[in-house]
Amino acid sequence: MSKNKNNKAVWSLRIKKNSSSIFKKVGSSIYVDKRLFKEDISGSIAHVEMLFKQKIISFKIKNKIIWGLNKIRNEIIKKKFNFKIEHEDIHMNIEKRLFEIIGEDAGFIHTARSRNDQVITDFKLWLRKSTDEIVKLLNTSIKIFLICADKNIKTIMPGFTHLKNAQPISFAHYLLAYVEMFQRDKKRFKNNLENLMENPLGVAAIAGTSFNIDRNFTTKKLKFNKPTKNSIDTVSDRDFVIDFLYAVSVCSLHMSRFAEEFIIWNSDAYKLIKLNDKIVTGSSIMPQKKNPDPLEFLRGKAGNSFGNLFSMLTILKGLPLSYFKDMQDDKELVFKSFDQLKYSLLILNDILKNFSANKKRMLELARSGNIVATDLADYMVRELQLPFRKSYEITSKIVNYAESKRKNLDEMDINELKKIEPKLNEDVLKIFDLGNSIKSKKSYGGTSFENIKKMINKYKKEIK
Ligand code: ARG
Repeated sequence: MSKNKNNKAVWSLRIKKNSSSIFKKVGSSIYVDKRLFKEDISGSIAHVEMLFKQKIISFKIKNKIIWGLNKIRNEIIKKKFNFKIEHEDIHMNIEKRLFEIIGEDAGFIHTARSRNDQVITDFKLWLRKSTDEIVKLLNTSIKIFLICADKNIKTIMPGFTHLKNAQPISFAHYLLAYVEMFQRDKKRFKNNLENLMENPLGVAAIAGTSFNIDRNFTTKKLKFNKPTKNSIDTVSDRDFVIDFLYAVSVCSLHMSRFAEEFIIWNSDAYKLIKLNDKIVTGSSIMPQKKNPDPLEFLRGKAGNSFGNLFSMLTILKGLPLSYFKDMQDDKELVFKSFDQLKYSLLILNDILKNFSANKKRMLELARSGNIVATDLADYMVRELQLPFRKSYEITSKIVNYAESKRKNLDEMDINELKKIEPKLNEDVLKIFDLGNSIKSKKSYGGTSFENIKKMINKYKKEIK
């Protein structure tokens, strides 16, 4: 076979003119999907092993192809492979190279398959691997959150609702909220595995194949659970792409909320946390500045992830079944989202290792805004057997009074309180202690120090 022929598109006998050069350039996906080369080669090896087992190709040809594919894998790993834009994508680049290495027998590789099933097989294999990688990264972040939480069990701060002081909480409890979010993220990624474990290989272009293939064989070889059930759906389906992009989006959203909160807390107005020099950047004009750029990076990248999810949804929404070129962009979107998530998680870890809680300021802020008012209302329900709505009213009056006297609740003396509710006695004063307030929130999932200790231990055991 002449070298010349191999440089031509496989359809060059049928399509007489070279395709538009601009389209060739921008329609090629090789610089994106070359990232799938390992999966493409594993998929092809499983495919030819199956073709041999089913007596569709000979032992000799199978071995020749596998030998060639292994050689190609090495060339790519060693960066000695010349990716060609004119061969459009990773699948054609590898096939064309196989011709160069083993000659015409390479032509047997594409028996009973199409790039339509090939590309999703590769993609699903890649997504399985990357899902594992993300779960591991999430576990690392969770472990660091737990270390921070451990150090801050007794760190008292105001819990905010509407960004107004609400009730006293332990800072550790706040950190553990993120552990819960990341635990759900892990679950969300793992749930996607069920669909990712269905093997598309063998559905060919759209209709299946007339060859007596064994899809269960390639399923086993490639460690899928079962073959997909409908050839049309299989080549049309990109739900697994949307699921992945959605999982990345939600995880990025969690990081973005964390980032926003830390940006606020780090501001000169709040000063609840301090970022050390490793995780701030300076200003080109204002010498005094230390800006929380890494946190802003997390918040910004979440927007990018949502964009990728919406791109994919939009690409698919008007597509009839089955395969269309439109779908080719799925890889770029997923790779971008994956990379961003990975970098974001690594940056998050750096942030968690390089900040400290300003405990004094947290306590000071917790002391303002009468945040034990709910505790006072609860106390009167318990001790004076009042209906909650009644004790809520009395507490409102007490808060109004304190405010009029420019006092905090804990600065009121018992006589002032008695003026508003005569049945109160000195015992009530313990309610104004922030630590007591936190200790009292023993309900399951609440912020009591005891609960937090138990939760930290529970997570530690789960993550190991
Ligand atoms: N590069 C293509 C993609 O990623 C592979 C599938 C091509 N199939 C086709 N019929 N043109 O979508």
